[in-house]
Amino acid sequence: MSHKALIDKLNEALGWELRAINMYAHYAANVKGIHRLQLAPMFSTEATESLTHANIVRQSIVKLLGIPVTERNPHHITHTTDYSEMLQFSLETETQAAAVYGEAMIHLEKAEDQELRDAIEQIYYAELRSVEELRLLMD
Ligand SMILES: [Fe+2]
Repeated sequence: MSHKALIDKLNEALGWELRAINMYAHYAANVKGIHRLQLAPMFSTEATESLTHANIVRQSIVKLLGIPVTERNPHHITHTTDYSEMLQFSLETETQAAAVYGEAMIHLEKAEDQELRDAIEQIYYAELRSVEELRLLMD
């Protein structure tokens, strides 16, 4: 059985993770004002989590005998020093990532490799938690 559809979907997720690493690192460096106290560490943590996710997804693609992408998703990263805009762009990114992982989970439903399915499912739930956390932060 070919894993092409799954590999393509995981590569899409990898592209979004590579973009998220850049975006969160950029916002951690640029966030200004009193909110920097809390948001700079939060954005740094998100950048690290994206790196961890990217590593897991990349390794999963290799396991499926696919070739991982090396370029980030080209969706523009908007520069801003306004923390509320940063949170809005973060929410958009996490929502997008969660959707892509949700699609990957459909391909993985019947997968015989339970370790692979579990690894991607954990990331999927982490993305859903991030969406909810950002939604509460912006409330
Ligand atoms: Fe992620």
